[in-house]
Amino acid sequence: MNCWSLNLKGKHLLGMDDLSIREFNAVLELAERLKIEYHSGIAHPLMRDKVLAMLFEKPSTRTRISFEAGMTQLGGHAMYLGFDTMQIKRGETIADTAKVISGYSDVICARLYKHTTLEEMAKNSRVPVINALTDKEHPCQALADILTIKEHIGLNGTVAFIGDAANNVSHSLMIACAKVGLNYHAVCPKGYEPKEWAVKLFEKNAAKTGAKFEVFNDPSEGVAGVDVVYTDTWVSMGDEAEAKKREETFKEYQVNQSLMKKTNNALFMHCLPAHRNHEVTDDVIDGPNSVVFDEAENRMHVQKALIALLAK
Ligand code: CP
Ligand code: NVA
Repeated sequence: MNCWSLNLKGKHLLGMDDLSIREFNAVLELAERLKIEYHSGIAHPLMRDKVLAMLFEKPSTRTRISFEAGMTQLGGHAMYLGFDTMQIKRGETIADTAKVISGYSDVICARLYKHTTLEEMAKNSRVPVINALTDKEHPCQALADILTIKEHIGLNGTVAFIGDAANNVSHSLMIACAKVGLNYHAVCPKGYEPKEWAVKLFEKNAAKTGAKFEVFNDPSEGVAGVDVVYTDTWVSMGDEAEAKKREETFKEYQVNQSLMKKTNNALFMHCLPAHRNHEVTDDVIDGPNSVVFDEAENRMHVQKALIALLAK
């Protein structure tokens, strides 16, 4: 497939299902090409003189840096706009802010608490808006994760997400898995299963790829024979008030050596930041099957591809 033959220009990426299966594969294909060229020292200034506005209401290490570095590599400029430094802090509306920013920029990425705020922003923006994480989804992470799985073991087999399977990372990842035909085990305590809307989107995509979805409350059963074990923090940004309760609820769901032994010599994945010796032990995250830093690097490659396809 030639990734440029699909017309993605002008589209927003708010949730993982905003990309069709073909579009998802086109982003991966371009990301792979850009990654090879980056490592060969070949510049690819697809966004020369273009501007990326990066709005952040929550902290970030990887997302902010990978978007900014990626935009620079594409020959453009990225502006970091922290909410604390803007008139939003003093009550300017998201709609007015989006109208103003889209007059100065070619593409926007935004990390916000509420997904509904992102939708309001997209509705009022004249340029594409990319979700850089909300309470509902983290699609850039899932794209990078699928690229990482493809590079290490190919897109076959089963991914077990263990922990808060109703969080943003799990939701985007499960929809992404369905798009490429990977099975998804949600391994979680009762009450933390993926939301119904995400299960519906999984099934819609799986009807085309044959992916299977299952929920397990027992960690050992959920990871038995799987090819990838994925976890994330038990306390996402915005959930801090529940931190104590969550630490207690999730303690049986820690990824450690004894759990990893039950898998098919699985890759270990984590979106980072990791809370070491809470959701994952040091020996697993630093062990030979861990690909967490490849995932982090791949954020930049997939986001460069996304920016180019949506905004070039
Ligand atoms: N994985 C991820 O989004 O990391 P940051 O919160 O550091 O951006
Ligand atoms: N689920 C986590 C992901 C951080 C990258 C959070 O929302 O805080």
